[in-house]
Amino acid sequence: MNIGFMDELVNKIKKLQGDSQSLDPDASTRGQLLGEVVKYTDRFLSEIDESPGYIAEDFSKNLENYKVGEKGENLEKLLALFEEYVEKPGINPASGGHLGYIPGGGLYTSAVGDFLAAVTNKYAGVYFGSPGAVRMEHMMVDWLIEILGFPKGAVGNLTSGGSIATLTAVTVARDAHSISGAGVSKAVIYHTSQVHHCLHKAIRIAGLGDAIHRNIQTDSEYKMPLDQLEEFIAEDRKKGLNPFLVVSTAGTTDSGVVDPLAGISDICKKYQLWHHVDAAYGGFFILVEGLKDYFKGIAECDSIAIDPHKGLFLPYGTGAVIIKDVDALLKSHHYQANYMRDAYTGKSVLSPADISPELTRHFRGLRMWLPLKLIGLDSFRKALEEKHLLALYFYEKIGEMGFETGGKPELSIVLYRYTQGIEPHRIDEFNTELIKACHRDGRVFLSSTTLKGRVWLRCAVLSFRTHLSTIDKALEMLSEALEEVKGLK
Ligand SMILES: Cc1ncc(COP(=O)(O)O)c(C=O)c1O
Repeated sequence: MNIGFMDELVNKIKKLQGDSQSLDPDASTRGQLLGEVVKYTDRFLSEIDESPGYIAEDFSKNLENYKVGEKGENLEKLLALFEEYVEKPGINPASGGHLGYIPGGGLYTSAVGDFLAAVTNKYAGVYFGSPGAVRMEHMMVDWLIEILGFPKGAVGNLTSGGSIATLTAVTVARDAHSISGAGVSKAVIYHTSQVHHCLHKAIRIAGLGDAIHRNIQTDSEYKMPLDQLEEFIAEDRKKGLNPFLVVSTAGTTDSGVVDPLAGISDICKKYQLWHHVDAAYGGFFILVEGLKDYFKGIAECDSIAIDPHKGLFLPYGTGAVIIKDVDALLKSHHYQANYMRDAYTGKSVLSPADISPELTRHFRGLRMWLPLKLIGLDSFRKALEEKHLLALYFYEKIGEMGFETGGKPELSIVLYRYTQGIEPHRIDEFNTELIKACHRDGRVFLSSTTLKGRVWLRCAVLSFRTHLSTIDKALEMLSEALEEVKGLK
C-alpha cells in the first residue's frame, strides 16, 4: 500500500470533517439555537390573538433575493427573514382567526413531538428499522379504528393528509375490484358535487381517469340522496357497466354536512360496491357525544380518510387512511426488494412501507401520540364541542344581522350570504365584494364558495384557538364590511 497516499487521504478526510463540523453543533450552540427559536415562537404565540387572520403579500418583496451561499449566516438574521417573508404574508393558520376553507391546527405539543422525531430521526417506514416508531404509528391508527367503530383487524396508515389518504383508498378499491386495462372504461364511480376535489385527482392518478363518474345531484341539504344513488347503480348494471365505488363525505368542505352513511353502506353491500367515506374534515366530531349520530353507519364502510391535521388540531402534514380489508391494502402496496432483505423479519407487525406508497417518511406517529398522551382525550372532545357551538352561535348571530343562512350547522361550518335589498341578479356580485372587503380588512379570515351556481360565504370553525371573542370579531368585521359594500352601491 502507498503510505504517502494513505496519509494524504487520512489528512484530507480529517480536514473535511473539521470543515463540515457545523453540521453537528455542540451543546452550547444547540442551546443558543433553541433559545432563539423558542424566543421567536414565544413572541409569535404571545401576539397570536391580536395578529390578523390574513395579510396580502407585498409583491415588491422577494425572499428569492436572499440566495443560498457557501457560507452560513446567523440565525437572528434568518429568523428576521422568516418573520417578514413567511410568517406574515397570507393566512395565519395557527391563529384562531382562520375561519376560511378548513382551518388548521398547530398544537405546540405536536411541534415538540416533531422536534423529538427530527432529532432522533427514527425510521418510521419499516418495522425492522424502528419497531417502536412503527408500533407507535399502529397504536395511533388502532385508536382511530376504535373511535370510528371499525372492527379489530382493520389497518391503516398515517399519511401526509387527506389527499394521499384518498388516493390510497381509491387505489385499494380499484385493485380489490380488479379494475384495469379495458375494464376501466366500464367501471363506474358515484359521488355528489360536494365531494372534495382530491377525489378527482386521486381517480386520475390511480389510472381511473377513463372510468365513468356519476355526479349525483345533492338534496336540499347538500347530501347524497339514497334513492338516486340506488337508481343509478341499478341502471348502470342493466347497461352492463361495472359499478364499483361510492364516495361519500362525513363533513363536506362547503357546508360541513354528513351524507347518510348507513344508507349508503347498505346500498353498497346490496350491490357489492366499495364504500369510501371522506371524513377528512368531519371525522373527529365523532368524539362529541351529541354529534355521534351523524356518523351512524360509518363502521360499515370499506375505507375512511380522516385528517388529524384538521379535527385533532395537529400541524399540517398528518392525515390517515383506514381500510377494512388488509389483504386488499397489501395487494396494492406491498413490494420486496433485494437491498431490503435484512428488513424482512417475518414478524407480524406490518411496516408502513408495505401499506402505503411511501418508503422513507416522516415519523408522524409521535406528533399525534405526544399531544394525545400529554393532554388526554377529554380536552380534545371539549374543544370540538366548543367549535360546534361556536358555529351555532355564528349561525344565530349572522341571521340576526339580516343575512340569509344555509342550513343549521351539523358540525362547524356555516353558509350565509347577504340578499336584503339586493336585486337578485346582483346577489353573487355583492357577496363577492363583501368577501373581498373582509380580505382587505383581514382581522379574521373568511372564505366563499359557490353552491348550485350561487355565491355563498362560509365560516368554518375548527382551530383550537378560535373562541367566542374570535367569532365576535368576525361578526364585527362582517358588519363593517357590509356597510362599506353597501356604501359602494
Ligand atoms: C372533506 C375533505 N376531504 C379531503 C381534503 C383534502 O385533505 P388535504 O388537504 O389534507 O390533502 C379536504 C381538505 O380540506 C377536505 O375538506
